[in-house]
Amino acid sequence: MSGETASGETASGEITSGETASGETLGRYEPAPPCTLVIFGAAGDLTKRLITPALYNLTLAGMLPDGFRIIGLDLADLSDAAWRDALADMLREFVAKGRTELARSDMDQAAWSSLAARMQYMRGDFSNPEFYGALASRLAEQENGGGNRLFYLAVADRFFGPIVEQLGAAGLTRQEEDGPWRRVVIEKPFGHDLPSAIALNQRIAKVLTEDQIYRMDHFLGKETVQNIMMLRFGNGAFENLWNRLHVDHVQITAAERVGVERRGKFYDQTGALRDMVPNHVLQLLAVTAMEPPVSFDADAVRAEKAKVLQAVHGLEAGEAALRNTVRGQYGAGDGSVAYREEPDVDTNSVTETYVAAKLMVDNWRWGGVPFYLRTGKHLKLRKTEIVLQFRAPPFALFRDTPTETLASNRLVLHIQPNEGISLHFNAKNPGPAVQASGVRMDFRYGDFFSEAPSTGYETLLYDVMIGDATLFQRADFVEAGWRVVQPVLDAWGATRPADFPNYPSFSQGPAAADALLRRDGRAWRALS
Ligand code: BG6
Repeated sequence: MSGETASGETASGEITSGETASGETLGRYEPAPPCTLVIFGAAGDLTKRLITPALYNLTLAGMLPDGFRIIGLDLADLSDAAWRDALADMLREFVAKGRTELARSDMDQAAWSSLAARMQYMRGDFSNPEFYGALASRLAEQENGGGNRLFYLAVADRFFGPIVEQLGAAGLTRQEEDGPWRRVVIEKPFGHDLPSAIALNQRIAKVLTEDQIYRMDHFLGKETVQNIMMLRFGNGAFENLWNRLHVDHVQITAAERVGVERRGKFYDQTGALRDMVPNHVLQLLAVTAMEPPVSFDADAVRAEKAKVLQAVHGLEAGEAALRNTVRGQYGAGDGSVAYREEPDVDTNSVTETYVAAKLMVDNWRWGGVPFYLRTGKHLKLRKTEIVLQFRAPPFALFRDTPTETLASNRLVLHIQPNEGISLHFNAKNPGPAVQASGVRMDFRYGDFFSEAPSTGYETLLYDVMIGDATLFQRADFVEAGWRVVQPVLDAWGATRPADFPNYPSFSQGPAAADALLRRDGRAWRALS
């Protein structure tokens, strides 16, 4: 914890404040096995903003093998050079802006050149079967690393099913035992409701086996999310408190300051619930609430997470779905326009940009402990955190003292920004009177580790290449996530909110979300 003065690594391998783990966190790993990365959507936003910076960071860290090649596919008519140059310009701009995901103040030209030399572009129409024949020929010419293939679907979700089918029909995903591997990364959104997610799973399962499918949820690439399991299962102290006997309730917040930016068209058909809850927020819930897996094997971990969602109740069809949820939409505020005035958004839109919910995890560990979730755009600040609020001690001891209230004991897991963990507890005020004040013990990642710059996609890309699916969503989790939110989608779809917009931009969110907790005698931790 910060405040310790000892420096260096102890006999037990503990890193104490003042000494950091290697800055080259990524660089400590072996290069992945050779493969060809085929990116569908090579001229799109995701390739620009996340995949290319992640590949650049992996290059800097020496984690890409010699036989690694990239074929970028898209509709745009681009030469290899034009594609690479566009990506280089964008990277240069990110680096110049000092984006924290990228190292150094200047782009490392040698690293970029070595990455660019691996990149080829191929123009094509993903709906045309002939295109897949041409892709097969290109792959055959190009492969020099044993033929492993990683198909990355960085495209709109309507293309997921058709592309997988066409890849299958062209024989590109066929995988022989002990032969080269073929893996497919599928971005979100994975379906837009329960029936479409089930249908998509069934459709791709006709072509691929589950172990070839890597359903991406970029929240799982965040170090702080991965650290929740380490905190819980790598320490003796916390897990004993991690249950209904000690925890009063749990709050999970994914607050954003950004609005819909340039994504009005997509977002207006999607809304905050679909965009954030069945995937990111329920992943946070699952890692917080899961039982210890029998090992860190991908299926052992993913089975425990899926079980959590199977135990979720409280949002059942009809009355419960409405009673235990709040939807909101941002209005104007602090110099910013209302959601309905954003580009490509319907001026009468009833799409929610905020959602809060109360649900229960009805199992032995969590019976009776409410989990409150909230996520939204144009909120006061960007903050993703998980709060475990512990039960209050009996007040009896302080009855005859000036102590009026005791602050709640809380463990706060700061996922982003200011990554770390804080423990809130009471301490006696100095002086003769018995009076208490709430104080805090803080652990900040930055105090102990100098993290390698990361977009969060580095680990995920590397894991696909080494065949570790732990941080990817299995079919049962995806469906269980949609099963949790489907009654809410139905209930909201059947009633038009009369009060939209119901929170000003850059505020704490709708008043109704406060009322949701007040009803239970509780309150959200303020966004501050
Ligand atoms: C995406 C959502 O999946 O996650 C976005 O579509 C959201 O709407 C984003 O802004 C949040 O991710 P992060 O990593 O910025 O917290």
